[in-house]
Parts: sequence; structure tokens; C-alpha cells
Amino acid sequence: LKAGLNGERLEQKGKRQLEWAEAHMPVLMLIRRELEPERPLAGLRIGAVLHVTKETGVLVRTLKSLGASVTLAGSNPLSTQDEIVAALSQEGIHVFARHAETQEEYYSGLDAVIQSSPQIVMDDGADLHALIHAKKSEISVIGGTEETTTGVNRLRAMEREGVLRYPVIAVNDAHTKHLFDNRYGTGQSTVDGILRATNLLLAGKTCVVAGYGWVGRGIAARLRGMGAKVIVTETNPVKALEAAMEGFDVRRMEEAAASGDIFVTATGNRGIIREEHFALMKDGAVLANSGHFDVEVDVKTLRGVSKGSRVIRENLEEFTLMDGRRLYLIAEGRLANLGAAEGHPSEVMDMSFSNQALSVVHLKRFKMSPKVHSVPPEIDLRIASLKLEAMGIKIDSMTESQEEYTGSWEFGT
Ligand SMILES: NC(=O)c1ccc[n+]([C@@H]2O[C@H](COP(=O)([O-])OP(=O)(O)OC[C@H]3O[C@@H](n4cnc5c(N)ncnc54)[C@H](O)[C@@H]3O)[C@@H](O)[C@H]2O)c1
Repeated sequence: LKAGLNGERLEQKGKRQLEWAEAHMPVLMLIRRELEPERPLAGLRIGAVLHVTKETGVLVRTLKSLGASVTLAGSNPLSTQDEIVAALSQEGIHVFARHAETQEEYYSGLDAVIQSSPQIVMDDGADLHALIHAKKSEISVIGGTEETTTGVNRLRAMEREGVLRYPVIAVNDAHTKHLFDNRYGTGQSTVDGILRATNLLLAGKTCVVAGYGWVGRGIAARLRGMGAKVIVTETNPVKALEAAMEGFDVRRMEEAAASGDIFVTATGNRGIIREEHFALMKDGAVLANSGHFDVEVDVKTLRGVSKGSRVIRENLEEFTLMDGRRLYLIAEGRLANLGAAEGHPSEVMDMSFSNQALSVVHLKRFKMSPKVHSVPPEIDLRIASLKLEAMGIKIDSMTESQEEYTGSWEFGT
């Protein structure tokens, strides 16, 4: 499975992609340049399961230049960009991933990462963390990081059950991660995935977004920006209220099902669009998912209630229901933004992966308890300041009198 693929040309294409990403990830590149001389990760073995995109390539190159050796596998069967695999493999990074790999290949990639005896484990979705814990083997792991909401939720469940064996930094929970990556990154790239898969006009369409968390609100905002009428479904009353006051039409899925032209799930939950909803949908409705796992649209049942299916365009499968209506599924119900497009733009991954790199350095430097930890706030703030600087934006600082005013209780009416 170690991908050599089509040799020279693919590798060259990958190198140019990495160059392009590096040019748009100024914060991570600055961290690389700053820390390179002291090599804070010297001799460290890192095992990473991340979407193998050009941005991940920039992160892995950074970790390597800080002294670590890295073994990388893909965190989704459809998200791997083969040219990045080729370019990184040529640079001495062990990569076990291939675009459109099978379930077996996916798990053999995870196994290969475990076989490399990693001391730090970086994960996106917590499949690797879970597998390491399930194997109960003697492991060398001193700590880990987690990139996404679903992974952090799983790790918190492990912590609650008292089974978490090493500290994990929840990169997702850093402000400079979820407020930007989940919202603007997924917002834009999900629309990108829908457009690449369908090339349909969004203006005037009715789009249904399930989940108004950070991902859902990004997608809803971008779809509205393209001229779509957006319906939001939620289970949390506060989030539903926020969506309503933001001007979205909030309804239950059973009500929205008959109105939607395009459906996007972003809940991190399962069975959001299921048999009773398929039964109500219009002929031609498009289904996409941007939540972490492919369980939000019940694809298995969709297959079961269809009399046939065919791939009509790249990353778009047409299902014909028994009554002749057709439903269209993007990227097999897996992450539409990574399966049908390229994932988040580099500028946003600049912040997410700066959090990853600095969290790994932190885990190496400090002994932490086997819990889910936040990214240290000084790292979060520093990344925000560096990003502003890179964007040429200057902000005010408080005067001494303002510091005194905001820090005291004596000043009132
Ligand atoms: N596609 C990507 O690149 C990408 C990027 C970041 C996060 N994610 C994934 O997207 C998912 C959502 O992440 P988030 O950060 O927005 O999480 P979040 O917790 O902020 O939001 C999830 C929302 O879904 C709602 N929800 C749960 N069950 C629901 C149901 N049955 N119907 C309607 N709403 C429901 C919750 O109330 C919550 O408001 C996670 O799986 C996360 O891992 C994907």
C-alpha cells in the first residue's frame, strides 16, 4: 500500500501543490523557521492519521524539520491526494494511503502507523486513538492530539469511562481552530464539493442544512451567500434559536424533507436523513454530508430502497427509488468537502495545523495527565496574533487606564 504510484510526474505535481500550500500557510511556516534551529522534536516518532492533503503535507514537513520522524496514514478513504503521497514518500516520510482505498486498506494504514511505535499520535476522528486503546498492546505513546469535533467527543467518552491511557490535546477546541476551520473552511469547501460534484445552480434552490454547530453555520451562511434559501434542522434549542434569529427557516427534518433541493448534514450524529425522509423527497434531490463519518445519510437503507443506482458524474451517484424518483448522493455520503473537493483552503489550515505543531512540541516538553486537555491559551492567542500579522491587520492594545478599568469592580454608575 505504500504508494509510489505513477512515479516522477505525480511526485512533481505533489511538490508544486506543497509549494502552493506553503505560500498560503505563513503562520505554520514562521513556526517552522523559528523552531528549526533548536529541533525540539529531535528523535521523536510521530504517528499521524490525517486527511492526506497538501496542507497536511506542509504540517508533516514541518514536524520533520523540527526533528521528528513521521508515519502517516489517511483518515478517510476518499480524501487522500495521491500526488501528495508521492511527494512526501520521496522525502522520507512513510505514507500509507491511496485515494479511494478500500476499508481493508484504510485499516492496514492505521496498523502501519501503530507498527511504527509512535510516541506521539495525531488523529482526525479518533479511529487511531480508539484502535490503540482497543489493542491494549504495550505502547510507547506519551501523548496525542485530535483534530476534529467527532474525535474529541469520542475521546471525552473514553475519559469519562476511565479508559483513556495518555494525554490528548483537543486541537479542535482551540478558538483558532473551530471558529475558522469548522466554520469558514468547511463552509466554503462544502459548497465547493457540491458544485464540483453537480455543477448545479445554487441561486434560488432550497438547501437544508442539518446541524447548526460550527460546521453547519458555515455551510448555511455560504449557501445563503450563493442565493439559496436555507432551512436549518437542529436538536439543540439554543442553536435552533440562533439559526432562527440569523434569519434561517428552522424546521424538523420530516417537514424539510419534501422542500429541499440540496441536503447537507453536519451534525456528527447518525441517521439524520433516513428512510422516512427519502420517502418524502423530491425527484432530483441531492444529498451531501460534511460531518466526520459516513453515517449521517443512511446510505445502506438508500441502497436497499432503490431499484438501481449508477455513477452519473464523478463523485455523484444516482439512486432510482421504486416509484421512479431519483436521489443523488455526493461522495458516497462521506465528507463532501474532502471527497468531492480538496478540503479546507490552506489559509484556514494554517491555523489548525499551527495548533497541531505547537501542541506536539508542548506534549514533548511537558508531562501531562491522561486526560483530554485544551490547547494552552497562550498558543491559541499567539496563532491569532501571527495570523493577523500575516494578513497585515493591526489591532489596538488597551491603555493602562483601560486595563485598570476592566480589571476592577469599583467603577460603576
Ligand atoms: N467536513 C470537514 O472538513 C469537517 C471539519 C470540521 C468538523 N467536521 C465534522 O463535522 C461535524 C460537526 O462538527 P461541529 O464542529 O459543527 O460540531 P458541533 O457540535 O458544533 O455541531 C453539531 C450540531 O449538530 C446538532 N445535532 C446533533 N444531532 C442532530 C440531529 N439529529 N439533527 C439536527 N442537528 C443535530 C447539535 O445540536 C450541534 O449543534 C463533526 O462530525 C465534525 O467532526 C467536519
